[in-house]
Amino acid sequence: MRKRLPVVIGIGIWIGMMWSACTKDYVYHEPLPPQDSVAAPHFKEDIIPVFQHHCVSCHVPGFVLDLTEENAYEQLWSKHEIDTLQPENSNLYIRLTSQTSPMPPDGNLPADTIRMLLEWIKDGAKNN
Ligand code: HEC
Repeated sequence: MRKRLPVVIGIGIWIGMMWSACTKDYVYHEPLPPQDSVAAPHFKEDIIPVFQHHCVSCHVPGFVLDLTEENAYEQLWSKHEIDTLQPENSNLYIRLTSQTSPMPPDGNLPADTIRMLLEWIKDGAKNN
């Protein structure tokens, strides 16, 4: 019995360590932050380039909706194109996703790009 005691203690310590390692894992495992708080798009860096590539060929000053860099932000608000309380209800988003009258007229933008625009609206449509 005497000779076995160190072994028993050893096993006991090992089990104790494994157990506490597992508990620590459990205790320290915090939920990941929500995706959009990490990757909220920026108006100037992310949204304006989309307008420049896909919209300003038509949406120039004096047009129904001016999406040029200088005026896009003011125009989106003054022409009620965005609704931060119901982002999916924003006219901008409705037209981007529309099958019958899409913007741009020759077909919807890639889903990732549309999602980014929606994320920007959900994040408060900031002029950032
Ligand atoms: C080939 C020209 C053309 C391109 C490119 C284009 N649009 Fe348009 N857009 C129009 C025309 C014409 C209208 C007005 C008629 C209508 O509402 O369909 C319009 C209207 C809109 C409206 C509704 C404005 C309102 O409140 O009456 C939105 C929103 C819009 N466009 C967004 C966009 C966005 C965003 C892009 C780029 C991703 C884009 N458009 C690209 C021609 C274009």
